[in-house]
Amino acid sequence: MNITTVSKPHDRLADVLSGEMDAVNVLIRERMASDHAPRIPEVTAHLVEAGGKRLRPMLTLAAARLCGYEGADHVKLAATVEFIHTATLLHDDVVDESGQRRGRPTANLLWDNKSSVLVGDYLFARSFQLMVETGSLKVLDILANASATIAEGEVLQMTAAQDLATDEAIYLQVVRGKTAALFSAATEAGGVIAGASEDAVQALFDYGDALGIAFQIADDLLDYQGSSAATGKNVGDDFRERKLTLPVIKAVAQATSDERAFWERTIEKGKQGDGDLEHALELMAKYATLAATRDDARAWAEKAKTALDALPDHPIRGMLYDLADYVVSRLN
Ligand code: IPE
Ligand code: IPE
Ligand code: MG
Ligand code: MG
Repeated sequence: MNITTVSKPHDRLADVLSGEMDAVNVLIRERMASDHAPRIPEVTAHLVEAGGKRLRPMLTLAAARLCGYEGADHVKLAATVEFIHTATLLHDDVVDESGQRRGRPTANLLWDNKSSVLVGDYLFARSFQLMVETGSLKVLDILANASATIAEGEVLQMTAAQDLATDEAIYLQVVRGKTAALFSAATEAGGVIAGASEDAVQALFDYGDALGIAFQIADDLLDYQGSSAATGKNVGDDFRERKLTLPVIKAVAQATSDERAFWERTIEKGKQGDGDLEHALELMAKYATLAATRDDARAWAEKAKTALDALPDHPIRGMLYDLADYVVSRLN
């Protein structure tokens, strides 16, 4: 291990798991191909070669290792998880009409919505083929449930968007579904394939769930206060799409009647003009909702760390602990 160049927790995890992660990447490249439809490898290569943090497959590998797994099926599970993630990104960028992902133009922009939807479907199907190869009905159950839950979260978000009645409870339900479900399935499946105890599997689930929530809250905060250079995505997308994320929900909850009229015009009616994003940011500053959102993200990261206490002492457990801090350290 090269300690001088390895710093971020996911770099350390990637370093420890590098052999398995290489195998995951080989498997992803192998399975994203198609002999019959050249559009498929074009689109998948565009997204996959752009990298991404590979957080979710790393969680699966880490969970399996932490539970003493010595087989090879965790590699298939990790690739499955990244395939599901990639499929949801293709679909999500169509739904959100996003133009940038992983620092590149999105597939829906470079090709079209049809290509993104259909190639996303293909990747979902490929993920199911991969997980079947593990022969474990239990992990099939976990990952199939997660896939349904992600879709539910995205649909709930769609119907909650543009509706100022969306409160923190609904927001949490959305985030748990669209994002945390895959994090918790990634960690849970790693434990299950390793034959871990019920308590350990529960702890891994709880860690993934809280980590995923912290991660998405942080992502939503970065949509307002991050930089496109750092996130590889456009800033202000959520406001333009009239999405009620935590910083806005907290500002709406405290709004004066004039302020409420502003939110009704920009979010509910979608009538946005020059200076509106800036005014939204002023209102968030007035009620310190970005800071409050950051506190919430940190509280979920702490919850994730607490869940790890139930797991055996192991170097990887320490790295997962640091990973929870890292997810919210992006907000400093
Ligand atoms: C993006 O996830 C989707 C969200 C849940 C916010 P990541 O930020 O993990 O995406 P990549 O894989 O690193 O690009
Ligand atoms: C990401 O949701 C969740 C899924 C891809 C299911 P977002 O729409 O908030 O994430 P970004 O900002 O596009 O990555
Ligand atoms: Mg999106
Ligand atoms: Mg979205």
